[in-house]
Amino acid sequence: METVQVALGARSYDILIEDGLIDRAAERLRPLARDGRLLVVSDETVWGALGERLRSGLDDIEVEPILVPAGESTKSWDGLASVVDRLLEQGIERKDHILAFGGGVIGDLAGLAASVVNRGCNFVQVPTTLLAQVDSSVGGKTAINVAAGKNLVGAFHQPSLVLIDPSLLDTLDDRQVRAGYAEIAKYGLIEDLEFFAWLESNGVAVLGGDEAARQHAISVAVAGKARIVEDDERETSGRRALLNLGHTFGHALEAETGYSDRLLHGEAVALGCVLAFDFSSARGICPAADADRVRAHFASVGLPTTLAELGPQNQGERLAAHMTHDKKREGGRTAFILARGIGQAFVDKTVDLAEVAAFLDRAK
Ligand SMILES: NC(=O)c1ccc[n+]([C@@H]2O[C@H](COP(=O)([O-])OP(=O)(O)OC[C@H]3O[C@@H](n4cnc5c(N)ncnc54)[C@H](O)[C@@H]3O)[C@@H](O)[C@H]2O)c1
Ligand SMILES: [Zn+2]
Repeated sequence: METVQVALGARSYDILIEDGLIDRAAERLRPLARDGRLLVVSDETVWGALGERLRSGLDDIEVEPILVPAGESTKSWDGLASVVDRLLEQGIERKDHILAFGGGVIGDLAGLAASVVNRGCNFVQVPTTLLAQVDSSVGGKTAINVAAGKNLVGAFHQPSLVLIDPSLLDTLDDRQVRAGYAEIAKYGLIEDLEFFAWLESNGVAVLGGDEAARQHAISVAVAGKARIVEDDERETSGRRALLNLGHTFGHALEAETGYSDRLLHGEAVALGCVLAFDFSSARGICPAADADRVRAHFASVGLPTTLAELGPQNQGERLAAHMTHDKKREGGRTAFILARGIGQAFVDKTVDLAEVAAFLDRAK
């Protein structure tokens, strides 16, 4: 078993990573189950696929799951109200633990509910998508979507434990797994050239479900995120912003495709990373060979790497316009994560959107 500690003083917690962890969940969770029960929040799809497995792993711990519809639209005011009301109906007390069992939607929603119900309860994450295992379950950001945009209402609320069982991914469809893989590769691109090189040799095995490769990739990714979160828990110093590599371009592409199944978040991040490296190369700060390597790797695992795959081109201005709505803007400037090479990402707040638009018009 791999253990990654997130060291945040009184809010520190462990992330445990091992195949089959969920089948022995009671060992880890019994101490957190007040009066022998846990309040589980999950979505209907996840519970249908994996609910019985969790129940049996929880042994004699009592569970009456709070289920919400699967999908991004559940991360809403209504979804939050419904979860909070049902937690209160079940008599939740401050010392109870909420267990978030699902992908990023459930982690964000149950985490935010935990941060407000009874003025704050504990919660545990048992992430079931690759994206949630390597990204959203770690770091304490929780949120819902509101009329003004995605993730605009939320809280920093760290979990007290994260149990990652990679074997849960066996019921998730391949496209979702691939999308989550983009976030794994992102950590290599930000500051770990050696890990990126390892992924170039082992990425296909990770995606194919090879137990050792998958556990290693998840562990390195989680440790990478944990170190960044420890340095900059609330994204104040700027270091946590590095996790946004590929996301400024990616969010513009998601907005342009209507946040639909046409382009999953992780797919947008893959193409966004390729564009961030191409842009850095076009500015003369990153070797073209590194940008080519990024594109070649994402293409080799079946992720999108060209704007041409998305349809009509010459849309630089439209895409750049979406970037003016980026919530990471500060003083009217969009912060871009650029790179001097693979493993050498940095934050640049001086990029002119007209330059980005012109670049996107020329981009592949
Ligand atoms: N808090 C953060 O730091 C953070 C970081 C990144 C993303 N996010 C958020 O995460 C969300 C996306 O998360 P996601 O990609 O995990 O999507 P998701 O939670 O919607 O899950 C994707 C789909 O897969 C299904 N599913 C989940 N696990 C399954 C399994 N093991 N077997 C079968 N089906 C399964 C779900 O029911 C859903 O239909 C977004 O809302 C995003 O904003 C948050
Ligand atoms: Zn992301």
